[in-house]
Amino acid sequence: MTFQNELINWYQSNKRDLPWRHTKDAYTIWLSEIILQQTRVEQGLPYFNKFLENFPTVQDFAAATETKVLKLWQGLGYYSRGRNMHATAQIVVNNFNGIFPSLHDELLKLKGIGEYTAAAISSFSSGEARAVVDGNVFRVLARYFGISTAINSPAGKKTFFALANELLYQGDPALYNQAIMEFGAIQCKPKSPNCNVCPLNQSCYALKNNLVNALPVKIKKAAQKHRFLDYFVCQSDEKVLIRERQAGDIWQHLYDFPSIDVEEQIPWTDISFEEKLKSTFGSGAEVSFIATKKHILSHQIIHLRFFALKNYIFNFSKQKELYWVSLSELDDLPQPKVIHDFIKEYL
Ligand code: ADE
Repeated sequence: MTFQNELINWYQSNKRDLPWRHTKDAYTIWLSEIILQQTRVEQGLPYFNKFLENFPTVQDFAAATETKVLKLWQGLGYYSRGRNMHATAQIVVNNFNGIFPSLHDELLKLKGIGEYTAAAISSFSSGEARAVVDGNVFRVLARYFGISTAINSPAGKKTFFALANELLYQGDPALYNQAIMEFGAIQCKPKSPNCNVCPLNQSCYALKNNLVNALPVKIKKAAQKHRFLDYFVCQSDEKVLIRERQAGDIWQHLYDFPSIDVEEQIPWTDISFEEKLKSTFGSGAEVSFIATKKHILSHQIIHLRFFALKNYIFNFSKQKELYWVSLSELDDLPQPKVIHDFIKEYL
């Protein structure tokens, strides 16, 4: 049997029943694909259902406020995906007559849609012959064919895309694309795959040459940076002072509290911490420590400390976009997950 037929046979008997596999609607498929970028299926599934429920059509999505979109997105991370989706929905309504494109070249013109997503949406919704190449596909091809070029190098990308398109089963591109991705996710897993039950184990290069754990090869990213944020929680008359985060940094348009970036975490019992505090918030300022939290993003590890702040003189011009809100008003605003967790636990 051919490589393609083995994969499709395996898929027919092992696939998960996932809601986006029952539709050819480009809008619905787009929702699922953007949500599933950098997100596991189990984590993404409730978000997919929530978005489809709130925005059954692209018109509903386009008409929503950005705050509502980000609120629904809360906890999923990589928030630019949510913002790009909102912009894309509006472009589809304004420039595409509200009809979500289903062809690869049209899809590529939209914000947040790259080569992988354009191939996925076009093959699943219109049957266009475009091979998907995601992390699962890289892994299956690297192992089965014994390719050791780094998957995140320009040469690697070229090699894997060419091979994937050559292998694409022209008889049913959508079925084949789903099959190879699912095979990578469930059978040819990153860690400890059970090669004994693999239908391709007679002809897999990596298995034959004891390279299953060595492939695919990936060039390591630069080490994650550490970042230290001290947050100051000011409360008065049942209200709390919050800040809308601005462009040019993490968490754009999400809400948190006034904060300062510090080079390193000076113990709050140190005299230098007190000096910094008084120079920032006036000589009468007093803080009490509430909690620490750690949050890991793709390229930075954020160490957060939260303090309750009293008797402050605030230089408001330095901290833009500050508002006093009640906790229930705050609950309706999108927050970074780590801030949301802090609020639920401590306020
Ligand atoms: N991850 C990304 N796209 C997917 C899909 N269509 N099915 C399952 N997992 C996916």
